[in-house]
Amino acid sequence: MKGQMLRAVLRYLERQGKLKKCSAKVEPQFELGAVLSYYNNEQPVLFTNVAGSRIPVAGGLYGNRDLIYELMETTCEERILKLMNAIARPGKPVFAESAPVQEQVDTGNIDIKKMLPVPTSNEYDSGPFITAGMFVYRDIETGKIQTAVRRIQVNKGNSVNILVSPASPSLLEMIKRCKEMQKTIECAVILGYDPYLLLASQVSSDKYGLDTYEVDCALRGEPLELVKCKSVGLEVPAHAEIILEGTIKPGAESIEGPFAELMGYYSTKGMAPVMEVNVITSRKDAIYQHCFPCKEEHLAYGMIKEAEAYAALRSHIDVKDVNFTIGGGFRLHAAVSIHKRAAGDGKSAILTVLGNYKDVKHVIVVDDDVDIYDALELEGALASRFQASKDLVVIKGALGSALEPSYFENGSSDKMGFDATKPLGTTLKNYERAVIPGYGQSFDIHKYIQD
Ligand SMILES: Cc1cc2nc3c(=O)[nH]c(=O)nc-3n(C[C@H](O)[C@H](O)[C@H](O)COP(=O)(O)O)c2cc1C
Repeated sequence: MKGQMLRAVLRYLERQGKLKKCSAKVEPQFELGAVLSYYNNEQPVLFTNVAGSRIPVAGGLYGNRDLIYELMETTCEERILKLMNAIARPGKPVFAESAPVQEQVDTGNIDIKKMLPVPTSNEYDSGPFITAGMFVYRDIETGKIQTAVRRIQVNKGNSVNILVSPASPSLLEMIKRCKEMQKTIECAVILGYDPYLLLASQVSSDKYGLDTYEVDCALRGEPLELVKCKSVGLEVPAHAEIILEGTIKPGAESIEGPFAELMGYYSTKGMAPVMEVNVITSRKDAIYQHCFPCKEEHLAYGMIKEAEAYAALRSHIDVKDVNFTIGGGFRLHAAVSIHKRAAGDGKSAILTVLGNYKDVKHVIVVDDDVDIYDALELEGALASRFQASKDLVVIKGALGSALEPSYFENGSSDKMGFDATKPLGTTLKNYERAVIPGYGQSFDIHKYIQD
C-alpha cells in the first residue's frame, strides 16, 4: 500500500475491488452499524449518504486479519517478527509545515453532534460514541507521545468523555497528578488512520515506554509524516482525516456509559475524564472513521498480544504461532502451536500465556500440525489428543478482564489450559494422520468437476 493513513487505505481497497460502497441513505443511529454488523466488521464499507451529514463514513476497516496483513504488506508467518522488530527498533517521524488534515480549521462554537456523523451503535448505549478515535497526549514525565484507541462518548456541544481503562495505569496516574497540580492536559483525537498507526497504538506504553509515532515509523518502514496541532503542543499525522484538539481540565469528569463493549455486553455507567474540544481540523472532503463496537475491531490489540506471547514463549519453548481468537474477543482465548520437545512443554506454554496476561481465561496448546486459525482443527485436537485428568490445568480465582460479565459478577476469574499436544514417545505412531497419497494441498478439483 502506497501512502499514509485512511485515504491511502481506501484508494488501495478500491483498486483491489475490496471496498463496498453504500450510497443508500443510512441513519447514523443503529442503521449504519447494522450494515457493518452484517459483515461482522470484516468488510470495509464507505457510506456516502449518512443522514444529517455531508461527511461520508468509512467502517469495517480493520476487522479482518488477512486484510490487515495485506495492507501492511506482511504475512501471517512474518507478522510477529515485524511487530517485535518495530518495538525493539523504533524509527523517527518527519514534520510537515502544512497538511491535508488541516485544510479546514474550525474553532469556536464547536458542536460535535452537528459537525460530525457520529453513530450510535446499540440499543442501550448512552448516545453516540466516537469508537475509532485515537486519543493522543504527551506523557508529562517522559515527554513521549502516547496514543490509544479509546471509546469517546459525545456529550453536548464540545464535551466528550474519554474512557481510560485500568489497562492504562500511567494515563490514569497522570490524570490524577494533573488534578493535584491543577494542570490542564492537552490532548487530541485522530480519525482516519491506517493499520500501521493502529497497531503501534496498541503497544502498551506502560510495558515499553515507547513513543507510538516512533513504533509506527518502524512498522511502516518509512517516517510517519506529522504536523503540529493548531491549538495544543502535540503533533498528529498529516494525512489523517479529522483531528479533534482539546484539553482535559484538572478534575473534569462526568458520567459515561452504558456502552455495549467487546463481547457484546453492556458496560455499566461510571465517571470518566471530560475532554473539551476547542478546535477541529480536517480535510476539506473529510471522511469520518468508525468501527462498530464489537470484538472484530479489537483484532489489532490481540495482534500485539500475540507477538508478546510469542516472545515470552520463545525463551523456553519451540513455539510456532499464537492466535488470540476472534471468539474470545482477541483477549480471552489463546491458541498456541508448538513443536513439542519435552513432556512439560504444553503445560509450560499454558502457564506462560496465563501468567503474562490477566485477560486470558482459556488457553489451548496444540502441536504444530494443527491449524490454530481453524476452530474445527482445534476442536479435533481436543477430541483426539487431550485427556482431562492429566492434560487440564485449572486455576481458581485469578485476575480477569472487566470486559466479560462473568468476571464482573464474580470479581475474579478462573483460568483453564488445555494441553492438547500429542504425548512424546512410543505411542507417537497412533497419532499419525491419515493422508491420501499424491492428492495433498495442491489438489485441483476443477480437473474433475467443472462448475
Ligand atoms: C477498538 C478498540 C477500542 C478500545 N477502547 C478502549 C477504551 O475505551 N479504553 C481504553 O482504556 N482502552 C481501549 N482500548 C485498548 C487500548 O487502545 C490499548 O490498551 C492501548 O494499548 C492503551 O494504550 P496505553 O498503553 O498507551 O495506555 C481499545 C482498543 C481498541 C482496538
